Amino acid sequence: MSLLAPIADVGRHPGTGGYRRSAWSDADMALREWFAGEARQRGLVLVEDGNGNQLAWWGAEDGHDALLLGSHLDSVPDGGAYDGPLGVVSSFAAVDALQREGFRPARPVVVANFADEEGARFGVACAGSRLAAGALAPERALALTDRDGRTMAEVVRARGRDPLAVGPAEWLTRVGTFVELHVEQGRSLVHDGAAVGVASAIWPHGRWRFDFRGEANHAGATPMPDRHDPVQAFAATVLAARRLATAAGARATFGRLDVEPGGTNAIPSRVQAWLDSRAAGEADLAELVAAITAAAQTAAEDDGTSVEVVAESVSPAVSFDAGLRDRLATLLDAPVLPTGAGHDAGVLSPLLPTAMLFVRNPTGVSHAPSEFADDDDCAAGVEALTAVVRDLAGAS
Ligand code: GLV
Ligand code: MN
Ligand code: MN
Repeated sequence: MSLLAPIADVGRHPGTGGYRRSAWSDADMALREWFAGEARQRGLVLVEDGNGNQLAWWGAEDGHDALLLGSHLDSVPDGGAYDGPLGVVSSFAAVDALQREGFRPARPVVVANFADEEGARFGVACAGSRLAAGALAPERALALTDRDGRTMAEVVRARGRDPLAVGPAEWLTRVGTFVELHVEQGRSLVHDGAAVGVASAIWPHGRWRFDFRGEANHAGATPMPDRHDPVQAFAATVLAARRLATAAGARATFGRLDVEPGGTNAIPSRVQAWLDSRAAGEADLAELVAAITAAAQTAAEDDGTSVEVVAESVSPAVSFDAGLRDRLATLLDAPVLPTGAGHDAGVLSPLLPTAMLFVRNPTGVSHAPSEFADDDDCAAGVEALTAVVRDLAGAS
């Protein structure tokens, strides 16, 4: 908690109490400064890659088979204090505990702050880790635009970074294992009666932009049967998404919406709506998104409007490394649980043995200001992560 305190006000909206820490915003820049200071204080060597990922090395920064820790500092709009930052401060706290006891890691231990994990600004989740891993093409990333129409290339250049440096990262080839600690986004650990758990899997998930187009006209002078109002097809799509996802035991959310031109007394010309959908299996997810798309098309045709659907960010199912998962679950005597939330650990898991530790969240709420974890549980998370580093980076 004392490590989170200095950043408690950074990017915090006074009205909602939520954090607005989108990638490369003023808040994000302040958090990067804070991260650099924390690294310096511990004698860690700070390196920033071409994608904005910050890496604080304990041990040679050109060393091999590193043990990577950390998480991210950016947030969704009006996010909570823990999603991301808890993993970063717990990693620093684990380093503190080990440095205090005179532990000398047999392999480099690295604390990461991954850039743009939430994808709140440019639409693609885990952009920093995907770029580093070669899972997102630099040209595509640099051309992504934010809500103000600024490209990622313009934004990183304005922050003094070189767009030409964006892309696969050499340092990642020198990482042997990644363990990301994160607040749980659900209540499994409450049911298990455990402060800390180990992740087994991440549901496949993605984001699709639905672009409904109709005909702008006067709200008073246009009779109802003569309208081509794109909001109608959008509304039908939202209802279909809830029905279809509920029936499939899956998830479908329209959390972001732009209605153009946005006049109270005008029928809109366009609605852009972003679907976030997740399911237990990849085929189930594909089927669900196809069914929601079909419902949107039928509704649009009925109104003489149109809809186009574009996939913006799709993440396959992740099964974390079974050997590492079992090793950590045994070491910590912790329950094993899957999650519906996405993480940089999921992006890196096809490349190297990767694991996640979850810290109990009493209400399960996340991506909202009321996201919470108890101090004692956070301390248990640090203890668990410390034990993991001792185990994975101890003298062989
Ligand atoms: C990230 O937290 C996500 O699951 O979208
Ligand atoms: Mn998140
Ligand atoms: Mn997160």
